[in-house]
Amino acid sequence: MSSRDISGVILAAGKGSRMKSDKPKVLYTLLGAPMLWFVLQAVLSCVDKEHLWTVLGHKSGQVLAQFPELADNSVIQYEQLGTGHAVQCCYPLLKQTNTDWCLIVNGDIPLITPLILDNFIAACIRNHASIGFLTIELRDPQGYGRVLRFRDGTIHSIIEEKDITDPEKEKIREVNAGVYLISIQTLAKYLDLLGNNNKQNEYCLPELIDIASYKRENVYAYCAGNNPVLLGINSPNELVYCEEVLKKKRIEQLGNQGVIIRNPEVVRIDPRSSIERDVEITGPVEIYGDSRIASQTRIDSHVFISNSRLGSGCRIKSFSHLEDACLEMNCEIGPYARIRPQTQLENDVKVGNFVEVKKSLLKKGSKANHLAYLGDAQVGESSNIGAGTITCNYDGQKKHKSIIGNRSLIGSNTSLVAPVELGDDTLIGAGSTITRDVPDNMLAVARSKQKNLSKKYIVKNRED
Ligand code: UD1
Ligand code: MG
Repeated sequence: MSSRDISGVILAAGKGSRMKSDKPKVLYTLLGAPMLWFVLQAVLSCVDKEHLWTVLGHKSGQVLAQFPELADNSVIQYEQLGTGHAVQCCYPLLKQTNTDWCLIVNGDIPLITPLILDNFIAACIRNHASIGFLTIELRDPQGYGRVLRFRDGTIHSIIEEKDITDPEKEKIREVNAGVYLISIQTLAKYLDLLGNNNKQNEYCLPELIDIASYKRENVYAYCAGNNPVLLGINSPNELVYCEEVLKKKRIEQLGNQGVIIRNPEVVRIDPRSSIERDVEITGPVEIYGDSRIASQTRIDSHVFISNSRLGSGCRIKSFSHLEDACLEMNCEIGPYARIRPQTQLENDVKVGNFVEVKKSLLKKGSKANHLAYLGDAQVGESSNIGAGTITCNYDGQKKHKSIIGNRSLIGSNTSLVAPVELGDDTLIGAGSTITRDVPDNMLAVARSKQKNLSKKYIVKNRED
């Protein structure tokens, strides 16, 4: 069966009240990526983008701000009246897709993989199911809908935990995982029959299974054993547990690809980041977003990297923080360096301890090794920024640029009051406050002349 025969729905409108926060649950992150990102990746492996609908509701604006690509393919469920109601909101669109099947996935099961979805879909089709759903067997089934089977093993119904009155049913370990494959015909026949006569007064999608079973449709449950990839996240503790599962998997995957990760238990690498083989990382380290680290780069402990590109052979020393930055090859950063957004460092650049660089370009081989601030600056090739140098880029209202040419040497403790431009091969005397441009090859000194006075002079002046 091709993905064209399947439409999809991701249920992501809920409040997530058990998280005890106002934030939409699907925006909580695991290894830096929002929960919804994982579910989208998995579902898009078997459903065409134009046939996939995401149901949003609670704070939908916040979700769309992070997933603008969903704008044309989302459905707003204005009142969160239950998972069944969420699917009802999508039904008119599903009908129009001309697909035979609809894959429905809860938005709060981020560990789900394309593989398990593939196997599940294939099994449903093989078994000619009108409605299929995934189940897991848990040692602690608390919080999940329990699967009730007839004696012969066929499906009777799903009972939500809140509706259980018989303690024996509470002990049932097979639970609904929140993934369904339903024929569009079955949706057409029964979706309107869902009621809200339950403890939560919600229109619950699992009730469709009860109805289909009662109507003697072919209801099929695909049991995935105690596979953690189907765990749902409803509370902060469950979020942290699932994140740990993902973290281990990611580290193992990278190890198999030739990345050496020491102290792996304290290394967090976003699934959206790519790390080439022959990179060495010593934890604790966090790498987030669309970061790309090329081979032979070494990242020491206590480093944070977000949305940054690092060329091969770079060395990032401890306690450095890099955000939205682009480093070419063989750069050396830190320890204790801060590389802020829109910074570009060409090959062989060195940024040392307690140096902050923001929105600046440092050309090939330039150095700022100690205690400096470079903001809105451009530093030419092989130039050296002395310790304590500051670009004064902000006049209280606007930001201005400092431009430094090639092979220039900026003496220690210089203030470059922007806008200002220094040519090639310039030399700036230590302690200068530079307010005017310096042409090529010039030495600029801008500080008051030193006077050596007799100590008596001081005593005399004090008496005055
Ligand atoms: C649900 C199932 C339960 C199953 C469990 C698996 C129902 C009623 N129960 O319970 O049988 O064992 O998942 O994890 O479906 N949502 C909406 N609109 C709503 C309500 C919820 O879009 O009106 C979304 C939520 O954002 C969430 C998903 O549906 O992503 C599931 O809702 P949730 O409240 O987490 O259901 P569970 O109690 O976990
Ligand atoms: Mg849930």
